Amino acid sequence: MSEIQLVWPNKHVLLRASGETGYEWVEPNDCRLSDPLSFELLTAPGRQTRTNILAVGDGLDVLQALKSHTRVFNGGIRLVYIDPPFNTQVNFRQYLDTMNRSMWLSMMRERLMALRPLLADDASVWVHLDDAEVHRARMVMDEVFGENAFVASVVWQKKNSRDSRAAFSTNHDTILVYAPSGPKQWKTSRNLLVKDNALLLNRDNDPRGPWSDAPFTAPGYRRAQQYEIVTPTGQILRPPRGRSWYATEPTYRDLLADDRIWFPKGGDGSPRLKLFAHQLRGLVPFTVWGSTDTGTNDDAKRHLMELFPDHEVFDTPKPESLLERIIHIATNPGQLVVDIFGGSGTTAAVAHKMGRQWVVAERNAQTVLDFVLPRLKQVLDGTDTGGVTEATSWKGGGNFQVVHVTPRFGKLTGSYRPETIKRHLSALSVRRDRSAASELE
Ligand SMILES: C[S@@+](CC[C@H](N)C(=O)[O-])C[C@H]1O[C@@H](n2cnc3c(N)ncnc32)[C@H](O)[C@@H]1O
Repeated sequence: MSEIQLVWPNKHVLLRASGETGYEWVEPNDCRLSDPLSFELLTAPGRQTRTNILAVGDGLDVLQALKSHTRVFNGGIRLVYIDPPFNTQVNFRQYLDTMNRSMWLSMMRERLMALRPLLADDASVWVHLDDAEVHRARMVMDEVFGENAFVASVVWQKKNSRDSRAAFSTNHDTILVYAPSGPKQWKTSRNLLVKDNALLLNRDNDPRGPWSDAPFTAPGYRRAQQYEIVTPTGQILRPPRGRSWYATEPTYRDLLADDRIWFPKGGDGSPRLKLFAHQLRGLVPFTVWGSTDTGTNDDAKRHLMELFPDHEVFDTPKPESLLERIIHIATNPGQLVVDIFGGSGTTAAVAHKMGRQWVVAERNAQTVLDFVLPRLKQVLDGTDTGGVTEATSWKGGGNFQVVHVTPRFGKLTGSYRPETIKRHLSALSVRRDRSAASELE
């Protein structure tokens, strides 16, 4: 537990979802807390042992209900990505973003605390925010996971256009990355970014194929790596001051004989090591992610407009390429990805296309009906050709189940009720595997 903590009013009281969009403070000894959560499976039970789940309900309620009714978390969550309301004090068409600050902090802390015991040993938790709350959220994450669990603060370039009316035209969000095992241990199981083989060149028609190159030097003074190298033009070179050659002289001679050393500037430049595709290590991710690699909010909106040409667009979607990078770094195929602020369903869609198991919760039933369900149906049917479909060679297939979790507090009306969602599901005819028992019984 960190010595320095953020304090806020009602920090020691619990906060629970109430009705469709509200929250209420609840004393820890409130007897209503022991009422079971009403959990309903809206699709037919499936046969598969590993199930993807779309849950309609408050994220905290969903975690608690799934934990007690299913085995879905038994193997441990490998990645949590959450993109909660940022508390910008602006309301969006699909959800309110004007919480009282204490409530927002308690809301976040309780969800992170509920996720913590469900994590696998090599899990990571990525929390996507902007400047409204990111500095406070980082203190909350220090408190929940420990300061030593902090891995990185990723700056994502969310837009390319400039707002000329603002003091600064903010064009980034921040994604806080924590790994309870600590960055050193987590590093041993995270994936590196794939090097773009299209950037390899074959400048000397090497029959082994195109190659990249790296300086043939290493930092520091090492006696065995201080010798003279003669370039093809006859120049005699020694390592730059304070550095050594990359390898000892016998190794250099072997590499030279194997045509693995390249001298630029027509044979006059310093030696470089040729690296073929199979020898290239992946890249350690930077903490600044540009829009060219990971897309923008507008790219995400354009994708949704392609999927739903007749709909008004979801206000705050994240691009599939951003999720693809996060899921690639943090998981391997088959591992469990969890998002408890599902929005338009980007995490579910990308995890599905990448062959990961997923659990996604979204509280707003209308968002589920308008976006998540029809989007996932297109992913399963193979008719969503946008986002990362091409990059992941996605052709369609797979399955998911839909559950509804009713909050303990407050009342639900209209489209928030399980019967309404069930009717929509049959109208959509979401494909189901009916053949046997699943994790959801
Ligand atoms: C910023 S959006 C997420 C956008 C999403 N990443 C995407 O790409 O579409 C936040 C979402 O969280 C949902 N939400 C807010 N409070 C929630 C809660 N307590 N439990 C579950 N979902 C919630 C909102 O309805 C909204 O759809």
